[in-house]
Amino acid sequence: MIKYVNSLENIDDNNLKGFFVGWPNPPSSKKHMELLKNSDFFWLAIDDTNNNVVGFITAISDNVLSAYIPLLEVIPDYQGNGIGSQLVTRMLNSLSHLYMVDLVCDEPLTNFYKQFDMFKSQGMIIRNFHSQNGV
Ligand SMILES: CC(C)(COP(=O)(O)OP(=O)(O)OC[C@H]1O[C@@H](n2cnc3c(N)ncnc32)[C@H](O)[C@@H]1OP(=O)(O)O)[C@@H](O)C(=O)NCCC(=O)NCCS
Repeated sequence: MIKYVNSLENIDDNNLKGFFVGWPNPPSSKKHMELLKNSDFFWLAIDDTNNNVVGFITAISDNVLSAYIPLLEVIPDYQGNGIGSQLVTRMLNSLSHLYMVDLVCDEPLTNFYKQFDMFKSQGMIIRNFHSQNGV
């Protein structure tokens, strides 16, 4: 069974495997743990048969008006079972006190996010591929 938690209790680096699929230089499990700890909000999907994290979502926020959702991922073997939707629902609920919640996604994923009443907007981004913490 999949359980959803917003705590890192009983989770260590060994429970965080198989993420950042397709990234040219994926963050290590240690970095993954660090980014979860440093996020203002996160939710994890955990397979309770082995305590492994199989999906996660993060948000960073000023906790007054706005939040940004930088990361959402479900590991491939677990995709297509509603886990991503559960994570987004829980995160939007956690952020429901805020005026604006933004994220950036590729065009094919816009339909996935529309089911949560999100709508398309324009955006501008920069990626520091070679920064110290870059990927
Ligand atoms: C997007 C993602 C989190 C969805 O997780 P999930 O657990 O499979 O989501 P759900 O089961 O709740 O919903 C599945 C739906 O997501 C949509 N979807 C997932 N990946 C998609 C893609 N690459 N393009 C278009 N739609 C996609 C489809 O509508 C799919 O419906 P289907 O199963 O009927 O085809 C997962 O596919 C993933 O981790 N992808 C790689 C990382 C990523 O793209 N993250 C989003 C960054 S903005």
